[in-house]
Amino acid sequence: MTPTVRTRVAIVGAGPAGLLLSHLLDAAGIPSVVIDQRSRDEIESTIRAGILEQGTVELLDTLGDASRVRTVGHRHDGIELRFAGEGHRIDFPSLVGRSVWLYPQHEVLKDLIAARLAAGQDLRFGVTAENVVDAETDRPRVIARDAEGQPFEIEAEFVVGSDGSRSVARAAVTGSSTGGYFREYPFAWFGILCEAPPSADELIYSNSPDGFALISQRSATVQRMYFQCDPGTDTAAYSEAQLWDELQKRVPGTTLKEGPIFQRDVLRFRSFVAHELLRGRVALVGDAAHTVPPTGAKGMNLAVADVRLLADALRALLLDGDARPLETYPERALRRIWKAQHFSWWMTSLLHVAPDATDFDRRRQLGELRGVVESRHGQAYLAEAYCGWPLTSG
Ligand code: PHB
Repeated sequence: MTPTVRTRVAIVGAGPAGLLLSHLLDAAGIPSVVIDQRSRDEIESTIRAGILEQGTVELLDTLGDASRVRTVGHRHDGIELRFAGEGHRIDFPSLVGRSVWLYPQHEVLKDLIAARLAAGQDLRFGVTAENVVDAETDRPRVIARDAEGQPFEIEAEFVVGSDGSRSVARAAVTGSSTGGYFREYPFAWFGILCEAPPSADELIYSNSPDGFALISQRSATVQRMYFQCDPGTDTAAYSEAQLWDELQKRVPGTTLKEGPIFQRDVLRFRSFVAHELLRGRVALVGDAAHTVPPTGAKGMNLAVADVRLLADALRALLLDGDARPLETYPERALRRIWKAQHFSWWMTSLLHVAPDATDFDRRRQLGELRGVVESRHGQAYLAEAYCGWPLTSG
């Protein structure tokens, strides 16, 4: 007999979505088991994006002191769009009355993991989900292997796939591991982390004839920067001097503060939305349900928005026996997902130079950029989407 763990909700994946969901369920008195195939150290050290919408920060506030966003993170009241040799500031508070916080995703994960463990959460690292079965019964199961490779199962009243873009749970919902709407882009980002002070007070998103660059930050002493590259680029292809050269030539007007580069990576650009988010008693959230290109910094924020909706739906289902909020979860989540897909695609197309761009395309793009920065309405569209639509609006 395969050993079986029983719980109310089985959560596959201990990223921001899975951990936050376990916290919200626990606050409602609903126990869960969270598994992840990675080690705690791997989860806490994976470098991801760093911008949190205001609604995300407010939801993390429910962790109490365990959330360090407001103490260690930094509020950013604007970004700069740079093109044709000039910078244009988009001022969030005056446009939409909101802001964003710069607080790297791995710090959010450290906070969530510490808080969940302190609360006694059954959270298992190094555990691999192999399959999710019986979605259409009221006892769905996760077939898994523990950290020693021994098979076991988790039987629950509900299973949530928060297991990222290579989701195992997705097949139980969509019928295949890939089933979804998909778009690939002809470019990627070359990302670096370096030891240097910030080069500017706020993030700079720069459209230049040489391609896009983003000058982001991590702390007073560590900076994150990206430049547009070919998706096939090898991280070893550039010397440090060449990397600084590539970055610097794309942000004319700012002298970048250079320092030792201690991490390099290439980020592929993909847009993906699963064909289905729910089947019976299995639901998908976060990257398991959708992927966005990183330009609008929507990835984790979108995961948090899914979780907010699903937590409410599971409370209704498991505490009140009311399945209606769950039935409408896909439709409500997808409204925001497609808005964020559009925004991420739009920011990407606005700022990058496509490899086959003609002179017409280039001039049209500059016209589009001017349409944004020279109009309060254009700026407000960007600010509203960047700071995040209200979490309750679905
Ligand atoms: C980051 O700092 O990693 C970052 C910031 C803003 C983005 C994307 C990534 O739009």
